[in-house]
Amino acid sequence: IHNICPHKEGPLSEGTVSGEYVYCPLHDQKIDLNNGIVQEPDTGCVDVFKVEIENEDVYLCL
Ligand code: FES
Repeated sequence: IHNICPHKEGPLSEGTVSGEYVYCPLHDQKIDLNNGIVQEPDTGCVDVFKVEIENEDVYLCL
């Protein structure tokens, strides 16, 4: 997913990952890593990018 939180641009790469969710480090909004949707009671979404893995190489599809 994109690194920027839709709330106030928190750096999601610095958030805490738990299961299939990341928690924004600034205000703790919970975002689904599969589809980028911010979980209730908050709203919004983050861009999601397809990833392919070949052998041990990871490709980000932009
Ligand atoms: S900036 Fe991410 S929850 Fe506020």
